[in-house]
Amino acid sequence: MSTLIVTAHPDPDSLTLAVAHRLEAALDAAGAGPVTVADLAAEGFDPRFTAADRHTYRTGTDPAPDVAAEQDRLDRADHVVLVFPVWWWSVPALLKGWLDRVFVNGWAFGVGEDGCIDRRLGRLTVHLLPIAGDDAGVYERHGYEQALRTQLEHGVVDFCGAVRGTTAFVHESEHEDPAVRERAVVTAVERVVAAVPG
Ligand SMILES: Cc1cc2nc3c(=O)[nH]c(=O)nc-3n(C[C@H](O)[C@H](O)[C@H](O)COP(=O)(O)O)c2cc1C
Repeated sequence: MSTLIVTAHPDPDSLTLAVAHRLEAALDAAGAGPVTVADLAAEGFDPRFTAADRHTYRTGTDPAPDVAAEQDRLDRADHVVLVFPVWWWSVPALLKGWLDRVFVNGWAFGVGEDGCIDRRLGRLTVHLLPIAGDDAGVYERHGYEQALRTQLEHGVVDFCGAVRGTTAFVHESEHEDPAVRERAVVTAVERVVAAVPG
């Protein structure tokens, strides 16, 4: 089993990047197979959807070289874990642009002559590790968790026919007590490790 951890945060000292690397180490220790961290900010991935991307969207052909490179490394993975801070109820723009540009017609799905969607990512399991400032109660009361799950699990993972993995939130990511943050991180990392066969 090969795992690609995809993360998007501009600050190398962020909790998000710390969690991505903790998860990498935990998967290694569990013997889950090769693990790679794709740090989109450090790598300089450009999230802007271009006219060339629109051409690909319409025709299912000619992905831009940076998009094709992302698709190649996803093709080599059995599991992908998106590790991201929740920003305005969603993923950061960098990760949203990665989804917009990479999960496109011709690779993630196709459209048949009859208009039926051909969902192509059945070999890929997608896990989510959202890192949230708010606590679990806020997420429950405002339908926040369901909103995130609907947009990503249903809107992206199901649409492309990928397998839903686990969704493990870290809540209270800015809690003043480091022990609270640590407990939340350990629990989320353990949940993802348990969901990736070792
Ligand atoms: C632009 C922005 C929007 C945010 N929106 C939310 C939000 O909608 N829900 C939430 O729980 N936390 C929100 N937060 C708090 C972040 O989730 C929090 O800063 C992050 O999890 C801390 O981890 P980090 O050190 O990796 O950035 C937001 C933070 C920023 C900077």
